[in-house]
Amino acid sequence: MYVCVCRAVTDVQVKAAIQNGAETVACVTRACRAGGDCGACRGMIEDMIEDAACGSRRSLPMFPPPKAA
Ligand code: FES
Repeated sequence: MYVCVCRAVTDVQVKAAIQNGAETVACVTRACRAGGDCGACRGMIEDMIEDAACGSRRSLPMFPPPKAA
């Protein structure tokens, strides 16, 4: 699926940029050119960055485990 129609960049390419360390829309744009034209896709790129960050935190405990009595 195209995330950025202007630059013909797919979700796979954007996800790869994020997995390779792009933590901002500007970083994604530098990595794969998505978001570098009209800007209509920048919100979606932000959502993908946030989703990736939330996904990486899912493995962490939500609160400390109960202490053994
Ligand atoms: S759709 Fe990505 S810059 Fe226009």
